Amino acid sequence: MSRFYVTTPIYYVNDLPHIGHTYTTIVADTVARWRRLRGDDVRFLTGTDEHGQKIEQAAAAQGVAPIALADRVVDRYHQLWQRLGLTHDDFIRTTEARHARGVRAIIERIAANGDFYVARHEGWYCVRCEAYYTEKELLEGNLCPIHHTPCEWRSEENVFFRLSRYQDQLLELYDRHPDFIRPATRRNEVRQFVADGLKDLSVSRTNLDWGIPFPGHDDHTVYVWLDALTNYISALGLGAADDTLYRKFWDADDATVVQLVGKDILRFHGVFWPAFLMSAKLPLPETVWAHGWWLVDDRKMSKSSGRVARADHLIEDLGGDAVRYYLLREMVFGQDASWSDEGVVERFNSDLANDLGNSTSRLVTLSRRAFDGHLPPRPDAESEAALQALADEVLTEFRRAMDDFAFRDALRSLWRLLQAISQHLVQHEPWKLLKDPDQRPQVAAILWPALEALRLVATALLPILPETAPKVLGALRAPVPSVFTQDDRGALAWGGLASGAELPEVAPLFPRIDKDAYLKTLQEPAMAEAETETPESEASTASEKTSPEADVEPAEPKIDIDRFFEVVLKVAEVREATKVAKSNKLLKLTVDLGEPETRTVVAGIAKAYAPEDLVGRQVVVVANLAPARLMGVESNGMVLAATQDGRPVLLSPETKVAPGTRVS
Ligand code: MSP
Repeated sequence: MSRFYVTTPIYYVNDLPHIGHTYTTIVADTVARWRRLRGDDVRFLTGTDEHGQKIEQAAAAQGVAPIALADRVVDRYHQLWQRLGLTHDDFIRTTEARHARGVRAIIERIAANGDFYVARHEGWYCVRCEAYYTEKELLEGNLCPIHHTPCEWRSEENVFFRLSRYQDQLLELYDRHPDFIRPATRRNEVRQFVADGLKDLSVSRTNLDWGIPFPGHDDHTVYVWLDALTNYISALGLGAADDTLYRKFWDADDATVVQLVGKDILRFHGVFWPAFLMSAKLPLPETVWAHGWWLVDDRKMSKSSGRVARADHLIEDLGGDAVRYYLLREMVFGQDASWSDEGVVERFNSDLANDLGNSTSRLVTLSRRAFDGHLPPRPDAESEAALQALADEVLTEFRRAMDDFAFRDALRSLWRLLQAISQHLVQHEPWKLLKDPDQRPQVAAILWPALEALRLVATALLPILPETAPKVLGALRAPVPSVFTQDDRGALAWGGLASGAELPEVAPLFPRIDKDAYLKTLQEPAMAEAETETPESEASTASEKTSPEADVEPAEPKIDIDRFFEVVLKVAEVREATKVAKSNKLLKLTVDLGEPETRTVVAGIAKAYAPEDLVGRQVVVVANLAPARLMGVESNGMVLAATQDGRPVLLSPETKVAPGTRVS
């Protein structure tokens, strides 16, 4: 039995999970399940990256403490992973004490190796990447090459890591150990980057509180990538009194470590991470596997692109297995793929509802009819030969593809067998023989091999469709193995189907989806919705989805959540209200916004509200509006109201809250 450790990147908590994050985690789960079935001792880690300026800024924009934002998003991750039935053994948060301990441990080891020094650092910084870029790397206008957003010029005193020292060792690693970075095209890019020359890396920040204090430099916090990368070993107990897991899964000759990442974070994992480990004199992972991006309109699906497919909505609509299937079937692991809502439904209807679902119900129904509710008796070897030969070939391909992270090929192979099962039935037309009891042996000779081939497909699908595969096996009265014994065969070897067992009636596995109706329900909300919405706004999405107006009304342009949070909405309490001279529309309000001074806000509500009725009332105000003069009065904010039949209707909190409370 070998040991196998698989990790996903840890996800930033300024974003709710979307399909991009879900993809890596589903791949890791599939690999973990596959390895467990092959008999390996597996550990699967995922988690969240909670420190750094990006999170600090996102929390500030929402008026909450960083940890409160992190807690909220982590909850969503837990819910989603649970709904997908993911089998991670651990979920690490970088705000946990065990993680800080690991970070201190690696820093002490790097320091002991003399690889830190303090110096002033200047450069262009992208907060979204939490990384500096050279002028050469920036796009025109000092834009970040990944996010296409402006970088900031930074100048600060930092602790530096002597990355340049590791250039030769890294090149040697890529050459001697070609599987360290996969796929090969990405390895070549990384190798070139290193061969072009490495600069030392600044690994501390002085203008940031939200992070782990840098040992020996208390006014610095640890650079978020040094902090984050260490999760892979802090979660195993690096630096802890009990580091059994670390010794078992990281520092062990018979442990294979595979780290899955998106291509955008390969430099951190393919260059910085091994250099940190080399400096700390810790073992390196076997492979860093970089997958491509899910694209929407040829751009990376991301919050900043404004178009994201929300995993939770998809799972609700189609089920977790359908989402897993589409992701693994459609993307060549390592390359980009375009997300298509139409493609999702088409795959669902053709591959799942038809090829898998219908084959299962057709075979079970035929068998029940012909054999009085039972499986057929096993026929002679000759009737099995053709499907058996194909099954052997397909399963050999499948195993090879799964070991090689070629999930698309693995699924294509299995579907070749499913299609052969259908053709086998069409060719032999067992339904024509049902009426004649004397033809039962012929019917058995047709059905038994088809049922056995289906059992093999379902068994092989266990790591990929963990909800559905056991259902198919249950429908065939076949066991659900927890391990493929005997050199990966066991349950994957031909001949495992019981003969003559009683068969239950089978419910449809994937009822067909009406494509047009489904696509209409998606319209705008599922792809364009702001990602950090609260549960309340989710409720409104649900009603938009079913409201008939949603289909006919033209869609309003969407903004992303960052733009929304640029508008600071707060609850204000009205202290005084008077009419503005010479205006029959405007009132001058003196409002308490929880600030030391009250503010004057001019509001066009005089036709609907008498000044005396407003005193003591709470309203919602845009608090960061540039001042404006209205009829000679300076207004510092804007009161929100809905307009009905030309009359304003004020918005207020349902119950009183502290003046100045942020509305989001
Ligand atoms: N926190 C860092 C990772 C630190 S690991 C020590 C981070 N987080 S992230 O939340 O922004 O992204 C995590 C992963 O999701 C990355 O591997 C990224 O490539 C992946 N994806 C995010 N959007 C994606 C797509 N549209 N398509 C596929 N994966 C993408 O980076």
